[in-house]
Amino acid sequence: MKRKLLITGAGGQVGQEIKFLADQFSDFTFDFAGSKDLDITRPGRVEGWFHKRNYFACINCAAYTAVDQAESEPAAAYAVNRDGAGHLAEVCRKAGTYLLHLSTDYVYHTQQNRPFSEEDETAPKGVYARSKAAGEELVLAAGGTVIRTSWLYSSFGKNFVKTMLHLGANRSELKVVNDQVGTPTWARDLARDLLNILDKLNKKELAPENLQGIFNYSNEGVASWYDFAIAIFELKKMKVRVIPVDSSQFPTAAERPPFSLMSKTRFRQQFSIELPHWRSSLKHCLLEL
Ligand SMILES: NC(=O)c1ccc[n+]([C@@H]2O[C@H](COP(=O)([O-])OP(=O)(O)OC[C@H]3O[C@@H](n4cnc5c(N)ncnc54)[C@H](OP(=O)(O)O)[C@@H]3O)[C@@H](O)[C@H]2O)c1
Repeated sequence: MKRKLLITGAGGQVGQEIKFLADQFSDFTFDFAGSKDLDITRPGRVEGWFHKRNYFACINCAAYTAVDQAESEPAAAYAVNRDGAGHLAEVCRKAGTYLLHLSTDYVYHTQQNRPFSEEDETAPKGVYARSKAAGEELVLAAGGTVIRTSWLYSSFGKNFVKTMLHLGANRSELKVVNDQVGTPTWARDLARDLLNILDKLNKKELAPENLQGIFNYSNEGVASWYDFAIAIFELKKMKVRVIPVDSSQFPTAAERPPFSLMSKTRFRQQFSIELPHWRSSLKHCLLEL
């Protein structure tokens, strides 16, 4: 019998990537719920949605992701990222449904010179980061799994890669920040690996207790936004001069973490999944753009 999965926030980057891959996971059937189908801020609606649907697992891709706008709309950000995540986690717990909940590298915001591990202290700054950290707590308390990811891009939705391609098509020179480092992550890789984890769980190749807690997830390697922009134009063979600048030249309402490199050791070991280097994934994604 096929197992049923629920994908919330299905209209976003990760949600659309899961939809793109769904046919490759033939042991599952999928319910894709966009924000209009299932608003996770409404507890009654979430509970009603689960009634008699018997989901094996839910991947929560729903989030308030407008990082700067969140500074002036804290209630809206907390409603989705904390309370919505909490409602979903509680309903999943009651229904016996595994929950994979996406969170962010923004919860790590301290100065250090080695990749963050899941045990490192979090220090979220700004409304978006704090609302995501608060959501993580509720998800973990209800027995869900938190996957912290970073610098997502995709051929779907809005993201840095698409912005660079658009700007690069219209300008010969661009300033890009060089003092924030992290790892660009193709949302397709994340989507595929989330489904791989659930597939392993379904086939009993993974014990449920090995799914507990927090996992960092990104592609491998390291880059600044400047490095990332250079790679995009190089791979696309676009002649754009990229000028490295400090983030002080691009003031934003929410402060970005200067260093958000994450260790993926726990993810690799627990799930026996290898992660591609960001540059090789970027190359694949750019073939679609
Ligand atoms: N993008 C990144 O670089 C990045 C980095 C680290 C972590 N993350 C995390 O990764 C996850 C997925 O990110 P993403 O880039 O795929 O985000 P995204 O493209 O912004 O998609 C988020 C989706 O959530 C939906 N949504 C918003 N409020 C909702 C609600 N109340 N109920 C149900 N759905 C709602 C949105 O629908 P509408 O558009 O209709 O509002 C949207 O389709 C998020 O948890 C995010 O915090 C993202």
